[in-house]
Amino acid sequence: MSTTFQLDTATSRASPTPQPMKRLTVPAIRKRKTDGVTAEPIVMLTAYTARMAQLLDAHCDLLLVGDSLGQVIYGLPSTVPVTLEMMANHAAAVVRGSYHAVVIVDMPFGSYEASPEAAFASAAHLLKVSGAAGVKLEGGEAMAETVAFLTQRGIPVMGHVGLTPQAVNVLGGYAARGRSDAEAQKIVRDAKALDDAGAFAIVAEGVVEPTALEVTQAVCAPVIGIGASAQCDGQVLVSEDMLGLFERVPRFVKRYADLASIIEEAASTYASQVRSRQFPGAAQTYQPTT
Ligand code: KIV
Repeated sequence: MSTTFQLDTATSRASPTPQPMKRLTVPAIRKRKTDGVTAEPIVMLTAYTARMAQLLDAHCDLLLVGDSLGQVIYGLPSTVPVTLEMMANHAAAVVRGSYHAVVIVDMPFGSYEASPEAAFASAAHLLKVSGAAGVKLEGGEAMAETVAFLTQRGIPVMGHVGLTPQAVNVLGGYAARGRSDAEAQKIVRDAKALDDAGAFAIVAEGVVEPTALEVTQAVCAPVIGIGASAQCDGQVLVSEDMLGLFERVPRFVKRYADLASIIEEAASTYASQVRSRQFPGAAQTYQPTT
């Protein structure tokens, strides 16, 4: 089955030909963990563009339009400057480029923390503009009321505990969490609070293995790990990390490709062929019709 979709420029929709699969739903993802057991681990990758979504869609249960796009796409120093409009626009592109995976969009810093009502307005805007199925927000106990407020009003919420990058200015960096007993117990309490509030899944980021196991066993919702060991119910990576587009590889990332080298080699060959007038050749040149 081809995963390459045709972009239908008449409607601006990415129309797969033929439409390959029916889209998964949030309840279907939630049900993948039953009585504490997830028979088949949940697969999530980040996507920020329509084309990347097209390539990843058939292989993933969820596509996350992460606010990591701040660093990956925009070259920002952290996720803190990312805006609601950036997230809405990239999420819309990912929805247009996918037909199978559930698309979840990150709520950016500053768009949800002030009150449940502010969070609802931001989340509703994201879902209306993009067509995504749900939102992800960072924080545990402090966000539980907001998670309940959103889920009771029709907005599925994925939680995010452990290392929460939007709090980098409070945490002081991106080190793994849960090394001390107090920190581990706080992460477990955070996850439980989100679970009780109705989060349909919870990302656990940068969490030491014993804490990841405790969190996964403590909550009913599936726990999707990033840098949180194999003890979780599923895994997520930033696609550009696992595709080898960056020089720096965090310890928890496994590189499944080395796209940076492939791109650099292609650019270098193109540049030398332009300079030597080898490109364009006859095959790439239009001639008058005879
Ligand atoms: O923004 C993001 O990409 C994320 C993942 C790292 C889970 O939140």
